[in-house]
Amino acid sequence: MLTNQYTELNYTIYNDESELDEEDLKLIESARKACETSYSPYSGFQVGAALLLENNEVISGSNQENSSYPAGLCAERVALFQAGAGHSQHKIRKIAVTAKKAANEKYIPVTPCGSCRQVMLEYEVKQSSAIEVIMQIADNKWVKTFSTEVLLPFCFNKNAL
Ligand code: THU
Repeated sequence: MLTNQYTELNYTIYNDESELDEEDLKLIESARKACETSYSPYSGFQVGAALLLENNEVISGSNQENSSYPAGLCAERVALFQAGAGHSQHKIRKIAVTAKKAANEKYIPVTPCGSCRQVMLEYEVKQSSAIEVIMQIADNKWVKTFSTEVLLPFCFNKNAL
């Protein structure tokens, strides 16, 4: 385990999944389960995201594609918008993101796209507390960021408006 010392760009690297704590592992498991609900006939890339709320409720989502490609939505935003629309009284503590290819059983590394990072940041600013992001970045490497802002340095948010 290695902790980056930059106070504002803080993340932890885990060199094996087993180094993550029980709560994180459970959330990863929920995200992996959500991969099964992915509708991804065009990419065959199944993504599952799971949010842990402060009341310990888990909200999960998966990518939903469309024949008109841009109309589809990433797993992270499916989960985040669900939380925003139906559970906004509870802050989001963390999000885990997982992926696999439809033809394969093995889970593979995935990191959130730019638009999902911006949406995560929006909820973090809205709730005035950090959301941790857990993701697999290589075969045996996991990262947990202290906040979503770590993924979006020099970001734009509503405080600028
Ligand atoms: N995708 C996600 O759901 N989340 C990500 O973080 C990366 C990409 C989806 C979008 C699309 O359905 C498929 O993966 C291929 O880009």
